[in-house]
Amino acid sequence: MTSSQAVSAAVAQLYNTYPFPPEPLLDEPPPGYNWRWHWTAAYAFCAGRKPLTQAVRVLDAGCGTGVGTEYIAHLNPEAQVTAIDLSDRAIEVARERCQRSGASNATFQPLSIYDVDQLPGTFDWINCVGVLHHLPDPIKGLQKLASKLAPGGIIHIFVYAALGRWEISLMQEAIALLQGDRRGDYKDGVQVGRQIFAHLPEDNRLRLREEKRWAWENQRDASFADMYVHPQEIDYSVDTLFELIDSSDLDFLGFSNPTYWNLERLMGQVPDLMERAALLSPRQRYRLIEVLDPEITHYEFFLAKPPFDPVDWSDQALLKASPERNPCMHGWPSRSIMDCNYQPMALTEAEYAFVEKCDQQPGETTVADCMALANLDIEAVRSLLSRQLIILSS
Ligand SMILES: C[S@@+](CC[C@H](N)C(=O)[O-])C[C@H]1O[C@@H](n2cnc3c(N)ncnc32)[C@H](O)[C@@H]1O
Repeated sequence: MTSSQAVSAAVAQLYNTYPFPPEPLLDEPPPGYNWRWHWTAAYAFCAGRKPLTQAVRVLDAGCGTGVGTEYIAHLNPEAQVTAIDLSDRAIEVARERCQRSGASNATFQPLSIYDVDQLPGTFDWINCVGVLHHLPDPIKGLQKLASKLAPGGIIHIFVYAALGRWEISLMQEAIALLQGDRRGDYKDGVQVGRQIFAHLPEDNRLRLREEKRWAWENQRDASFADMYVHPQEIDYSVDTLFELIDSSDLDFLGFSNPTYWNLERLMGQVPDLMERAALLSPRQRYRLIEVLDPEITHYEFFLAKPPFDPVDWSDQALLKASPERNPCMHGWPSRSIMDCNYQPMALTEAEYAFVEKCDQQPGETTVADCMALANLDIEAVRSLLSRQLIILSS
């Protein structure tokens, strides 16, 4: 067995012991939405426009117990979803989860990302959340996934960030030291970890971070093990993240949590600093943000396989475009809604009138018509677009 195979075997063993995430199985579709799992909303975020078809092929790479897969299947009933994972037990749970909630458009297969070339054809959309950082060679993993992406297809990736996981990585090391040659016994690792936290001084930094940030989700042993007793984890910085991305032939489209990456929230009050920051490259600005706000625990972002040309709507093209309401919102119809990120949002009367009009005739009216009816100007329409409240097609 090569060392890479040994690492993969250890990772599979962890998730066979503790399939993750340990969410309960339901006999109905899961509640709500996550727009990153909604093809139209995710594609529109990346491309600036509605995708041409809903009948897409989706790969959930490293699906775990299928929580994300189940959402993807239900939110996109016309999609064909293939889900793979290294862990047989995780796949068993994922399959049962989808069977019970009636997600019949998802199929499951125990398979490593390294072996995705065994799957037929290519995929329009790949979801790979919480997985690449557990591979012995994430670059090879990303390259394998990139080879299965159709031209113009998109991939959503989530990997860990080092800065906000500093205490976690120290605790991982402490548990490993105390386990000694019992490393690989994941139940023992959980027991050792829980004992340490219970007995560290109350003002200990590792303990405080666990109690304040993670304890609620770590009540379940599977979550505790996933966090503290992992045999393989690579945590990134902005710099190493872009080394990973650059190793693929994919284009970086942007982070899927853009609010964090807005420097305005950190130094928007200081024009001098903002002017200095404007001289930096986008990647340097990202690095500046993470070093100033080191709470960051993960990176989530979209990549695309060229050719992929996001629309840059000119005023003229925007007026002729057909708007639709983004279905990822809660509480509609109302002027007080939860937006696609479940954040409360108040719409002005004119904004509400615009969205209502395009919701009544999706795809059959134009931005110009809705503007006239709602008495809204073009900048306000751009604001609806940037807040992901509407989706456009040309
Ligand atoms: C933290 S879980 C994430 C599960 C799921 N993506 C989610 O976000 O809920 C990581 C999953 O990646 C799987 N995994 C790790 N290495 C893999 C590989 N080389 N190929 C396929 N799956 C892998 C593990 O078995 C585990 O189920």
